[in-house]
Amino acid sequence: MTVVDLAIHPKADLSRPGLQRGRAFPIVIVGHVDHGKSTLVGRLLHDTDSLPAGKLEQIKAVSEKRGLGFEWSFLLDALQVERDQGITVDTTQIWFTTSARRYVIIDAPGHKEFLKNMVTGAAQADAAILVVDAAQGLAEQTKRHAYLLHLLGIRQVAVAINKIDLIDNDAARFHAVAEAVRGYLADIGIEVAALVPVSARQGDNIAQRSAATAWYRGPTLIDALDAFTPRALALEQPLRLPVQDLYRIGERRVVVGRIESGRLKVGDRVRFAPMGREATVASLEAWRGPAATNAPSTEAIAGDSVAFTLDEDVFVERGALISLPDQKPREANRITARLFWLDREPLRQGDRLTLKIGTAEREVEVEAITESLDVESLDARPANEIERNGVARVVLRSRRPLALDLYDELPRTGRGVLIRGPQIAGGLVIEQAQSVTNNIVAVSQSVTAADRARANGHRGGVAWLTGLSGAGKSTLAMAAQRELFNRGRQVVVLDGDNLRHGLNRDLGFSAADRLENIRRIAEVAKLMANAGQIVIVSAISPLKRHRDLARSIIGADFHEIHVHADLATCESRDPKGLYERARAGKIAEFTGISAPYEIPAQPALAIDTATLPLQDAGSLLINYIEDRLASGPVTT
Ligand code: ADX
Repeated sequence: MTVVDLAIHPKADLSRPGLQRGRAFPIVIVGHVDHGKSTLVGRLLHDTDSLPAGKLEQIKAVSEKRGLGFEWSFLLDALQVERDQGITVDTTQIWFTTSARRYVIIDAPGHKEFLKNMVTGAAQADAAILVVDAAQGLAEQTKRHAYLLHLLGIRQVAVAINKIDLIDNDAARFHAVAEAVRGYLADIGIEVAALVPVSARQGDNIAQRSAATAWYRGPTLIDALDAFTPRALALEQPLRLPVQDLYRIGERRVVVGRIESGRLKVGDRVRFAPMGREATVASLEAWRGPAATNAPSTEAIAGDSVAFTLDEDVFVERGALISLPDQKPREANRITARLFWLDREPLRQGDRLTLKIGTAEREVEVEAITESLDVESLDARPANEIERNGVARVVLRSRRPLALDLYDELPRTGRGVLIRGPQIAGGLVIEQAQSVTNNIVAVSQSVTAADRARANGHRGGVAWLTGLSGAGKSTLAMAAQRELFNRGRQVVVLDGDNLRHGLNRDLGFSAADRLENIRRIAEVAKLMANAGQIVIVSAISPLKRHRDLARSIIGADFHEIHVHADLATCESRDPKGLYERARAGKIAEFTGISAPYEIPAQPALAIDTATLPLQDAGSLLINYIEDRLASGPVTT
């Protein structure tokens, strides 16, 4: 017994289009957890005869033996267990077949990752069923899911107003809930195809109309589904083929990738974005996918993974996007996107992340969060940060251009994910793309870092001292500076307190101001390091992301040094009397007292000033700078 059993319906008319190519119509079922999704799926499978023979009876018998009444969700649980144990062929999907076509439910209940899968494009639905409890109406979670449908461009939605039997099949109550749902969906730009009063438990109006709701004249849920149209088939759209890899086999270079949309033939002239080079497809070497068996051997189509050669040896890299020359993608370094945020750590203006579209990855900066959306009230306003599960419109900037499409035009190459560290942190769909030049072109230096290193007898770089106020950062920085200067080194200290009298005079200690403070210090430190200086920065830089920002600005010459003393020691030293004032509530957001300090997990060097005498602590710093920061080859 396998999912294949579920997939091929005995009554299905295999001559219908859609069944032939084996493409099932993908739907997603969303709604609040308690509103009956599992029961509905169980019902859909049963009422379309899509269950393996005897399955229902088996579950009923087991429930009875355990003295439980039968629940449709048991059926789903049982299928889930089989999937988890790998008994069935397909591990994530549930299929059912109506007389019109085959469907695949892409968020099988129990599939907790479905939000992530939808947002990141791992799963794409052509239509959705939104489940709403008739007694409870629209829940917050339902609104969030509905908004996500809109965000992902799912325009075909049927609403199942469930548990209609529990409100005694009351027409007035149904209409009140239905109108509220219709109104909310209309406000977010979704026009509902049908609002169906159903009882998933009883099977009312799922496949068969129910006598209990004789007042209802609309379609059954299955009829509503069968009336949906498949999205434009990807193979009828312009060619998009993100380059995954390049191999050299003997003399020939082979380009490898998966066709996202359109078709590719031997003899086609193709263009590589964003470099813009062109070449002709010389041969299709190998491919996997539906076309591999159906199509002539000179053509591959959307969904196929292909390997092919070109007639000339053009320079191509992973991440390039292949199109036909007259159907180019856009090339942009500034994009406006609708975003769904998944990471625990909020997204903030100024954050630097990796944007992945197709196989291309680029560093981007969050230039602005133009809109944060409250899914409950649908209020949108500018924001500094977006919390987990938040929805926003953002502007992203990259230095180098990215090849992409607008989501409304070509969804497969019009979406992307944001990556922070090893994690997918958010998903986005692209609304606008621009190529902006600020008419600024970096001028090459006439004296290079290597020239300076040779002249100075040492390299430049940044020793970034982070730690609590009173930990001894400034004291150590000044002691090391004096000693290094005495030894003839080019050295300078950038002290947070001092800079706050000038360059950073306009900044306070809010989260945004601290980040800007660090950004400016890092930019200045970088300039000085490039000018050959050993730069010792002394700034609390309390959060990991402050130090990550500095590292991303300064690059390999950034050295994180944790100057550590426990809070009690810092407080007892209290060189500026600030802890006392902070304890008395006279300084807001004071690091260590009323604002957090995140201890660096893996600093290049940690110096504990609570236990080490100043002399020893100073030697540790100086030795590190001499051995690790200032020596070594300079190549640029
Ligand atoms: S950072 O957090 O943005 O890195 P920075 O090192 O520039 O801080 O400045 C910290 C110094 O400002 C402290 O040494 C202290 O003298 C002073 N200060 C004033 N208010 C605060 C505060 N709320 N939190 C921390 N330091 C403060």
